[in-house]
Amino acid sequence: PVPNVQWLAALKDITDQIPETYIRPEINGSPVLNGASKHGDIPIIDLSRLDHLQYSEDEILKLSSACEDWGFFQAMIEEFFQLPLQEKKAYEQIPGTVEGYGQAFVVSEEQKLDWGDMYFLSTRPVSGRNLKLWPTNPPTFKDALDQYSEEMQRVANILLDSIGKSLKLDKLIDKFKDFQQSVRINYYPPCPQASKVLGLSPHSDTVGLTVLLQVNEVQGLQIKKNGVWLPIKPLSGAFIVNIGDIIEIMSNGNYKSIEHRAIVNTDWERMSIATFHSPSADAQLVPLPEAVEKNKPHYRNISFQDYVKMVFSFKLQGKNILDHMKL
Ligand code: SIN
Ligand code: FE2
Repeated sequence: PVPNVQWLAALKDITDQIPETYIRPEINGSPVLNGASKHGDIPIIDLSRLDHLQYSEDEILKLSSACEDWGFFQAMIEEFFQLPLQEKKAYEQIPGTVEGYGQAFVVSEEQKLDWGDMYFLSTRPVSGRNLKLWPTNPPTFKDALDQYSEEMQRVANILLDSIGKSLKLDKLIDKFKDFQQSVRINYYPPCPQASKVLGLSPHSDTVGLTVLLQVNEVQGLQIKKNGVWLPIKPLSGAFIVNIGDIIEIMSNGNYKSIEHRAIVNTDWERMSIATFHSPSADAQLVPLPEAVEKNKPHYRNISFQDYVKMVFSFKLQGKNILDHMKL
């Protein structure tokens, strides 16, 4: 059993010495680009310019009005994490699964732990929801998450369609459209020894596409670019879009999944919501035929189900899972 980090961070005597399992000696050896990223460092895309013919003006309008409401869902999340631990524990992960309130990717007793708690819920298809794990307090949380999930699916569909077209893989969208979606809400309490811990270990997302919202605009996300960690400054009204391992596989490596991690700080709690989009459970993960017309496949075939099993038996560490898939 892994301690609840929010509870741990609130202990009075924690300031002297945090438990050794959270201390990461390797951080010293990982160069970070000084200061925050300038917005020029990562491309900013105006979603309303991505509308292909199939998206009507109406739909785009709906999207932007939903964006204005997202502040509401963010407030729900802050409220949830402020509940007493006992109340949150009612939604605790069932042992051996990731869904619910708890920690992710703890596979051994010796491994270093992340300075953060999370709440992971499967949101689409709607029939796959485990509503017992959806909080009843705050009372509007369920509705807010339902609406957020729907709008995120719309955003992801537009992005996946555009990404497919940019790769000349028009069929990419068919692998994802309206299949699986899950939401991971991350909560990182402040840490008295912030420079020695990680909120979330370096990893690439093992899904197709992630749409990430930095809730309270506290900086913490870093992406690896040319071997150096680049801090990503939260930009109000913007999402971070991450290519995941499955797009790397389907594009036969033309687009690479991005390695990232989260750091924490001494003064502020930080929250983020990652919404993951994946193919259907019975899909085969394999480079698309159009991606291997001129090149041989660089990744082995695997069913999505076997891939997920592999994901949960590994600890999060860089792109280790994808490396296993390389031919
Ligand atoms: C994630 O990788 O799921 C979240 C990273 C973050 O908190 O910014
Ligand atoms: Fe991630």
